[in-house]
Amino acid sequence: MPAAADPLEALREEALISLSDARDDASVELWRNHWLGRSDGRLTILLRSIKDQPADQRAAFGAGANVLKVTLETALEEKLESLRQAALARLGTEGALDVTLPGRPQLRGRLHPVTQTMRDCLDAFAQMGFRVFEGPEVEWSKYNFDAARIPEDHPARDMWDTIWIDTAAGDPREILLRTHTTPNQIRVMERTPEPPVRVVVPGKCYRHEATDATHEWMLTQIEGLAVDEGVRMSDLKGTLYQFAQTMFGRDRKIIFHHSYFPFVEPGIEMAIDCFICRGNDSKCHTCHGTGWIEILGAGMVHPEIIECHGYDSSRVTGFAFGIGVERVALLRWGIDDIRHFYSNDLRFLRQF
Ligand code: DAH
Repeated sequence: MPAAADPLEALREEALISLSDARDDASVELWRNHWLGRSDGRLTILLRSIKDQPADQRAAFGAGANVLKVTLETALEEKLESLRQAALARLGTEGALDVTLPGRPQLRGRLHPVTQTMRDCLDAFAQMGFRVFEGPEVEWSKYNFDAARIPEDHPARDMWDTIWIDTAAGDPREILLRTHTTPNQIRVMERTPEPPVRVVVPGKCYRHEATDATHEWMLTQIEGLAVDEGVRMSDLKGTLYQFAQTMFGRDRKIIFHHSYFPFVEPGIEMAIDCFICRGNDSKCHTCHGTGWIEILGAGMVHPEIIECHGYDSSRVTGFAFGIGVERVALLRWGIDDIRHFYSNDLRFLRQF
């Protein structure tokens, strides 16, 4: 063995013995500084001294010193790993970790009842060939009102007390939170150069109004629009009838009333028999004593609206509808007050 190997061998022994004495991470850290510390670790100093060795021994000394460096670094890693394993083993035996305890149940989220109902409604229409389209909740007044034939001074604007958005001073364009999904009739037709159109548009709408058992200031609607040659009122009624049967089963009663909406002519409303009082309680909160709960407005698309997209109203006709999804959910599950949906009471929401 060359003479220069001896001091290396002595260092190796000393270092490894002192490492094996280390009992925790802190003393291993001290050891690392003492031996491998960047500026004055003992091995570091040794490596630095390679150049001072006699020329004929320098190569062998350098090789030996580098082997020693790898040895110490490897021993350090092994030591840290064995400390980690020992700590884990202690956790098991000292009772901090009881592997026999049953796991904590994960809280499972679920879909909000209105979302569930909305998806089921969309499925019902998908089966009839309707595609889903979505439009913005923050809408131009032009789409929400004007294009739907509700001009500035039209009394129908009273039906939608509106939440307006502030615009830059002097900007004549008015922005609002859409009060219904009807503006999407226009948006869809704008994007469809030629009929047929057959879409449903789900989404939130906002109204600045007092709440009661069947009215909320935020509501979910599904707008429907079908435009093609030869679309008739009977197609509208058949579509809505099919929808109601899918959602409520065959035993619920359905009634169509005449109604007025500026964007359709003629207009109708569809209602379902009141599940609470069956029409026998003149003070019923849910149907207001009428025996019926209205769930949607509908009608034949006004020819002016068909025309303004370049469609020929003498050739193509259309029907449209707007469903109140919360109302559908009320009826489905027999819920007596629409305000439960957005009061964030988990005792209520967990039932669905
Ligand atoms: N937009 C109406 C509302 O919010 C609902 C409605 C009525 C939509 C008739 C329609 C329709 O498409 O034809 O009260």
